[in-house]
Amino acid sequence: MNCLLVCPSQGGSEDRVLLITPFIKAHLISTTMNPNLNAFWMPFTANRQFKAKPRLMASAQGMYYKDVEGREILDGTAGLWCVNAGHGRSTIAEAVKNQIETLDFAPTFQMGHPGPFELADRLTRITPGDLNAIFFANSGSEAVDTALKIAIAYHRAKGDSTRTHLIGRERGYHGTGFGGISVGGIATNRRGFGPLLSGVDHLPHTHNLEHNAYSHGQPEWGAHLADDLERIVTLHDASTIAAVIVEPVAGSTGVLIPPKGYLEKLRSICDKYGILLIFDEVITGFGRMGTPFAADYFNVIPDLICVAKGITNGCVPMGAVFAKESIREAFMQGPEAAIELFHGYTYSGHPLACAAALATLDIYQNENLFAKAATIAPYWQDALQSLKDISCIIDIRTIGLIAGIELESIPGSPGARAYKALVNCFEQDLLIRTTGDIIALSPPLIIEKEQIDRIVTRLRSVLSAL
Ligand SMILES: Cc1ncc(COP(=O)(O)O)c(C=O)c1O
Repeated sequence: MNCLLVCPSQGGSEDRVLLITPFIKAHLISTTMNPNLNAFWMPFTANRQFKAKPRLMASAQGMYYKDVEGREILDGTAGLWCVNAGHGRSTIAEAVKNQIETLDFAPTFQMGHPGPFELADRLTRITPGDLNAIFFANSGSEAVDTALKIAIAYHRAKGDSTRTHLIGRERGYHGTGFGGISVGGIATNRRGFGPLLSGVDHLPHTHNLEHNAYSHGQPEWGAHLADDLERIVTLHDASTIAAVIVEPVAGSTGVLIPPKGYLEKLRSICDKYGILLIFDEVITGFGRMGTPFAADYFNVIPDLICVAKGITNGCVPMGAVFAKESIREAFMQGPEAAIELFHGYTYSGHPLACAAALATLDIYQNENLFAKAATIAPYWQDALQSLKDISCIIDIRTIGLIAGIELESIPGSPGARAYKALVNCFEQDLLIRTTGDIIALSPPLIIEKEQIDRIVTRLRSVLSAL
């Protein structure tokens, strides 16, 4: 029976038994913690490498996970940039439990239930500007595809049906739908999947170690890179361009901070040519910058914002798009009986997600968590920047409660050094995230100074030894 637990992906069957046996002895407490690792095809993971030496979490509370051995692991990444209020929040659990016992599901196509109306209304109290029309999805990827579709359909609704081009940015990450990978600029996420959407172009990214290394906050250099949008407009003609989408702070590519003046320039060029500006705030939304949204932090208001992750503290999948009221109004001109936007998901405004999100917003508000993040952010940034002297580090970028640490790649083995850091940090009870040779850190907003010190001490010990 135990053979079922064997990782089937590496070496011969005897090797596999040897690999998994200590794991079984040490960890298998109940059948739920006793999984056959084979069937789950893991996302964005080297499956065979992982299953040969798994890292399995069993529970979480506050700033810590516990793995299946009962070892406490400090969460340096808020799960995956989503558990902004920390783990194990009982009020969210209660709200979800009450909701499932009361109304497990109700459609939102031609039907409704109070949850999404209440949540949308509540969200408008913190959305920037007049981004008060809220469309619900179930993930960041769906939010992005929704925003891109709304942008194109908006122009069409206004009689501008030639505006179909979408402009993304090199190194951008906008999830994994075909829309998201088309406007996204990470080669590995695109190259396996055919021609993608047509009519897409990309701005240059803003990463430049020569000019911007060790950015503590926004770098001085690079606003001019937004002028490339003028070149793209000249090439395609403004009359063909629907929208520009960027992450205000790019996360998944390894933390790229917008240069001073860059987002402002994008905003003004978009205004000049009637192009919609979309901020993908899937990671920057809900307090990561010490403000509700990055749009508030940078004081640049886009036309549409995509969110997910922190909207429910990561507990129940949910995404959303915030659109300017004028965008929604453009759809509301035809006959009242006509469906205005042929788009949506079975689970748009799912009762459990709405309950989780409302309870999460209560926590953010009652505990003043966005302001708390703003207060501790300078300590966080100074602490991370103090690692500068470690020889394998070539850059540290910090803003809000975010840090990117770029390591010198081992020649011929890109990503290997950072992966080793991830494994060694995990063994020293710290969860970090890596992309290529960049470490990305984004702890829950409830982090205390002592925990920041602990993260930095662990990182120093691991990185100095690499
Ligand atoms: C900026 C950004 N957009 C979109 C996504 C996709 O979100 P999801 O994985 O929920 O589809 C992510 C995920 O990390 C993200 O960082």
